[in-house]
Amino acid sequence: MLTSIGVLLLLVLMGCHHTHVAMCSFNGNFTDQLSLLEFKKGISDPKQALMSWNDRTHFCSWEGVLCSVKHPDRVTSLNLTRRGLVGEISPSLGNLTFLKVLLLNLNSFSGEIPPSLGQLHRLQILKLDYNTLQGVIPSLANCSNLKELWLRNNQLTGPIPIDIPHALEKLVLSLNNLTGTIPTSLANITTLSVLDVAFNSIEGNIPNEFAKLSALQFLFMGRNKLSGYCFPQPILNLCVLVGFSVAYNDLSGDVPSYIGNSLPNLEIFELDNNFFHGHIPSSLTNASKLTLIDVSSNRFAGVVPRSIGKLSRLYSLNLDSNKLLTRNMQDWEFMDSLANCTELQEFTITENHLEGNILYMADNHLSGVFPSGLANLRNLINVGLSMNRFVGVLPEWIGTLTNVQVVLPLLENTPKVHPKSTGAIPSSFSNMSQLEELDLDFNRFDGQIPQALGNLQMLRFLNIPNNNLHGSIPKELFRISTIVQIILSSNNLDGTLHDDIGNAKQLTYLHISSNNISGEIPRTLGNCESLEDINLDHDAFSGNIPASLGGITSLQILNLSHNNLTGSIPTSLANLKLLELLDLSFNHLNCEIPTKGIFSNVTAMWIDGNPGLCGGALELHLPACPAKPLYSSKQHQSIVWKVMVPLATLLSLAMVVSVIVLWRGKQKRKSVSLPTFGSTFPKVSYNDLYRGTEGFSVHNLIGKGRYSSVYQGKLFQDRTMVAVKVFSLETKGTQKSFVAECNALRNVRHRNLVRIITACSSTDSKGNDFKALVSEFMPRGDLHALLYSTRDDGDISAFTRITLAQRICIVVHVADALEYLHHNNQGAIVHCDLKPSNILLDENMIAHVGDFGLARFREADGG
Ligand SMILES: *[C@@H]1O[C@H](CO)[C@@H](O)[C@H](O)[C@H]1NC(C)=O
Ligand SMILES: *[C@@H]1O[C@H](CO)[C@@H](O)[C@H](O)[C@H]1NC(C)=O
Ligand SMILES: *[C@@H]1O[C@H](CO)[C@@H](O)[C@H](O)[C@H]1NC(C)=O
Ligand SMILES: *[C@@H]1O[C@H](CO)[C@@H](O)[C@H](O)[C@H]1NC(C)=O
Ligand SMILES: *[C@@H]1O[C@H](CO)[C@@H](O)[C@H](O)[C@H]1NC(C)=O
Ligand SMILES: *[C@@H]1O[C@H](CO)[C@@H](O)[C@H](O)[C@H]1NC(C)=O
Ligand SMILES: *[C@@H]1O[C@H](CO)[C@@H](O)[C@H](O)[C@H]1NC(C)=O
Ligand SMILES: *[C@@H]1O[C@H](CO)[C@@H](O)[C@H](O)[C@H]1NC(C)=O
Ligand SMILES: *[C@@H]1O[C@H](CO)[C@@H](O)[C@H](O)[C@H]1NC(C)=O
Ligand SMILES: *[C@@H]1O[C@H](CO)[C@@H](O)[C@H](O)[C@H]1NC(C)=O
Ligand SMILES: *[C@@H]1O[C@H](CO)[C@@H](O)[C@H](O)[C@H]1NC(C)=O
Repeated sequence: MLTSIGVLLLLVLMGCHHTHVAMCSFNGNFTDQLSLLEFKKGISDPKQALMSWNDRTHFCSWEGVLCSVKHPDRVTSLNLTRRGLVGEISPSLGNLTFLKVLLLNLNSFSGEIPPSLGQLHRLQILKLDYNTLQGVIPSLANCSNLKELWLRNNQLTGPIPIDIPHALEKLVLSLNNLTGTIPTSLANITTLSVLDVAFNSIEGNIPNEFAKLSALQFLFMGRNKLSGYCFPQPILNLCVLVGFSVAYNDLSGDVPSYIGNSLPNLEIFELDNNFFHGHIPSSLTNASKLTLIDVSSNRFAGVVPRSIGKLSRLYSLNLDSNKLLTRNMQDWEFMDSLANCTELQEFTITENHLEGNILYMADNHLSGVFPSGLANLRNLINVGLSMNRFVGVLPEWIGTLTNVQVVLPLLENTPKVHPKSTGAIPSSFSNMSQLEELDLDFNRFDGQIPQALGNLQMLRFLNIPNNNLHGSIPKELFRISTIVQIILSSNNLDGTLHDDIGNAKQLTYLHISSNNISGEIPRTLGNCESLEDINLDHDAFSGNIPASLGGITSLQILNLSHNNLTGSIPTSLANLKLLELLDLSFNHLNCEIPTKGIFSNVTAMWIDGNPGLCGGALELHLPACPAKPLYSSKQHQSIVWKVMVPLATLLSLAMVVSVIVLWRGKQKRKSVSLPTFGSTFPKVSYNDLYRGTEGFSVHNLIGKGRYSSVYQGKLFQDRTMVAVKVFSLETKGTQKSFVAECNALRNVRHRNLVRIITACSSTDSKGNDFKALVSEFMPRGDLHALLYSTRDDGDISAFTRITLAQRICIVVHVADALEYLHHNNQGAIVHCDLKPSNILLDENMIAHVGDFGLARFREADGG
């Protein structure tokens, strides 16, 4: 007896590699061990999570395995969540017939879900979410105890099975490629509490039978292809519903007026990006638990319910892009009411019909100019109210919103529309101690930059270009340790740049061009070791270029052009390894140009307009420098008088002429220039576009017109396919075309218009003006090409490719877009150049109207 135990022990210690079944037997049933080993065989295990899955250990002790107490050799739970496993799921798991819990989520399983899992009739929880499983969902009808089925984030296709087991409580199928309609049989699972099919391609509407699902708490169907002319009525019966989303579908209809009374437990309510119309029901404010309401991008009209303030838990309210109105003071009361929503952190109401009436309020009641109800929203983090044309002075109480982290362009006061000043920047901004971004691009702020902004110890981005600011840049700004970006270009700032700039160790972007800043460039600027982009051009800087700039190793762009700089170019600039662009043109620099580093690349630097320079790279074709300074020796005096004086006179004459020409050119350009879109649009540089389109290669050219060429390309770390429209500025009328297009597109948004991502107004590598528009890429090209071109492989006519139904859809889409253009809240936009080649099609054959180069703008006539 003892010896046999000893032998057994010895064998166990030695490891039973070869004879596992027989020798490691504890007299049990090894069916489950075989199934598990079969499963292991089919996968690879790069993280060695299944190290313990070997003969030395009883399989009930293997990583992730639990066995039954009553039947010690039967596996009841297999939990391999997030173990880095790769490969296919073996059908052998279907033999673990005692299994209650199977968790294989958050791995890299691929292939199909084995139909044999349908034999696991004791199974209660099956989680295969976050893998890359393909194929259809197998029948699980025999898993009659299944309570939770998680298949989120795979690549499953086909329909939702009609024979879903009847005890199910949670069915999570979101983020797959499922098609078909929602099976009415789901309505028989009265235990269902969570149904999430968001992010698939499900069609149809919510079946009426769903009214039976009395336990349903979460119904998420956003980002599908649901359609219908009526609001999904059955949900009104689901009185325990907590979360409801049908965002990004094609649903329309009126929202029933009593919805908030029928759904008292509602917390999440998302209808955004559909075609719902009618009013926002005021009964919603009876659903007192609501925390999130998103009804943006629909066609809701009327006023915002005044009782909105009853929603004391409201955290996020998005009313963007509707047809909401405010005709009088009463209509604005919702703003004051909102003040009671003390939890509110996100609130936007851009692109509605709120403008005319604020003007009315401006005339009567100053605090109404900017909704004073906001003053009590102490928790606001992000305020976006742009594109509503608020006018008037920004009130001082703005500073009481002490939790605000980002202030976006609050006031969209294009000078054309509102020539009045918006007053000074309220110094109370300095009380927003959490503020990270202050963005007041394109306004009419005048007065000085408040010194008190220096108190904002979290500020990272200070963007106030294109305003009317006076005075000097407060040195206090440079003492904010977090400051990354100071953009104050195109104002009327003067004074000098303070030595304290050297404290801004994180400063990466310094743009103060087109002001009137004078004095020397501080030597301490060289201490700003993070600087990548310095733009001090078109100012009045004088003195020498500090050699210390050559120590900013991260520097990529240095533009000091159009100043009054004198002396020589510091050779230290040649050390800047990352420098891509150096513009020193139009100064009074003299002496020898260095030849190393950036100075060896004539396409990356500009030095013209500095008559005193000599030498440098051969390609510059400048006169060689004299061996000794010209006027150092007496014997050259006569040369100075005989040659240099007449030459200088000639040169200055030439300069006067060129200054006049330049001045005129500039005048002309000023009248139509429209720098960037505003900071809500991402900034892209010429270099980004150059890189993204492989140097505007012919290979990427997808269209060419009179005023522009269009390239396809990739932007934003190559993640986004875009179309880049580059304007041929040498053609007459192109500037106008660019401005027309910018004006037309920056304020409009519609699913059937080509969405503009951003604009770029800059200079190219040769210093020429460069203007481009970046829009989303339309993979199917334009309608003209689709209709009239033949495919490479023969003469298959377009008729076989675009069905009649598609054609009708295209017509409807275009009509939709025009209706929006003609009746949008900015005043009518008339396209003036509508033709098949300006109608672009995305991958789903949805038509998008583009090319606004000839568009005309008609202001709306008042309210
Ligand atoms: C082991 O269990 C399986 C499944 O229950 C059964 O079919 C088989 O007969 C059992 N084998 C032994 C040796 O008990
Ligand atoms: C599991 O069941 C399948 C049939 O479903 C059978 O072919 C196989 O032999 C069983 N055992 C293992 C270890 O896979
Ligand atoms: C499954 O395993 C993971 C990782 O070990 C663990 O975090 C999780 O709680 C387990 N789940 C269950 C239901 O036991
Ligand atoms: C379900 O079980 C029944 C009876 O055992 C069997 O006939 C049927 O094929 C099973 N269905 C599936 C999908 O496994
Ligand atoms: C799922 O759909 C997406 C988007 O439509 C597509 O990119 C992807 O290839 C599809 N995957 C499968 C497996 O069909
Ligand atoms: C749902 O249940 C009802 C009654 O229980 C039954 O008549 C009907 O056939 C079931 N529907 C489906 C699709 O299973
Ligand atoms: C809100 O609820 C109250 C009390 O149930 C009811 O009297 C009122 O009519 C409801 N409001 C709306 C707008 O339905
Ligand atoms: C907001 O609160 C004030 C004071 O607490 C109250 O008078 C007012 O009726 C409330 N408004 C709403 C819409 O709840
Ligand atoms: C900032 O807040 C303090 C305290 O609430 C107040 O006294 C001060 O006037 C505010 N500063 C500005 C500039 O509004
Ligand atoms: C540049 O300097 C010259 C002479 O030093 C002066 O006359 C001129 O006004 C200065 N220009 C600017 C823009 O400050
Ligand atoms: C010269 O500069 C241009 C523009 O910055 C750049 O594309 C090119 O690669 C540079 N050439 C060399 C040799 O560095």
